[in-house]
Amino acid sequence: MTVREFVFDLKDGRKALARSPRDEDIPATLDYLYQTACETDYLLRCPEECGKYTPEGEKAFFDRINSSDNGAMIMCFVDGKLAGNCEITWSKGLKTRHRASVAIALRKDFWGLGIGTRLLAELEKIAREQEEILQLELDFIEGNARARALYEKTGFRITGVKPDAIRLKDKTMRNEYSMVKVLKR
Ligand SMILES: CC(C)(COP(=O)(O)OP(=O)(O)OC[C@H]1O[C@@H](n2cnc3c(N)ncnc32)[C@H](O)[C@@H]1OP(=O)(O)O)[C@@H](O)C(=O)NCCC(=O)NCCS
Repeated sequence: MTVREFVFDLKDGRKALARSPRDEDIPATLDYLYQTACETDYLLRCPEECGKYTPEGEKAFFDRINSSDNGAMIMCFVDGKLAGNCEITWSKGLKTRHRASVAIALRKDFWGLGIGTRLLAELEKIAREQEEILQLELDFIEGNARARALYEKTGFRITGVKPDAIRLKDKTMRNEYSMVKVLKR
């Protein structure tokens, strides 16, 4: 589904624009996917894996999520630059359609400005508008203190841990934590 465009204030006084993805965002998205993979170990993708992302693939992804009835993506721009994006998806399965997954990643230049808080609130709003959705779910990698703080501040609670789920290039192992936010019952 698509979201209505909105503007919000950042902590540093600038404004951010949020909207659904468009074809014109494809080059910036490919750059963002690579840059964010370089900037943090807390995403699943590595820079050298980003070759699999292509303009055609991103177009197909944008078209699919914009026209789907069980997911949405929000792109966020600051000063015309793609700061990051976030996504919500949910299953249509009879036994699992009460669960929605959320994910978010921003370029490092835009961390700590309140974008994560605002975008997560928007994803929650989308979820609350779906009668079937009862809970939001996400995962984060051990050590991602900023993400964990954001999620705990917004009402997510840790519900499980997958030991050594992530193996970094230097062979360091990291746990992966699951979190849930109950919206209604
Ligand atoms: C994680 C991420 C989405 C957070 O978004 P953000 O816009 O930076 O977050 P916000 O500015 O809204 O801050 C959220 C909270 O984090 C906390 N926080 C900020 N800096 C922090 C730090 N260095 N360490 C711990 N907590 C911190 C604050 O409590 C803040 O809440 P407050 O504004 O009420 O004080 C963003 O940093 C990011 O994209 N990181 C890289 C990719 C990633 O890790 N994605 C998540 C994968 S699970």
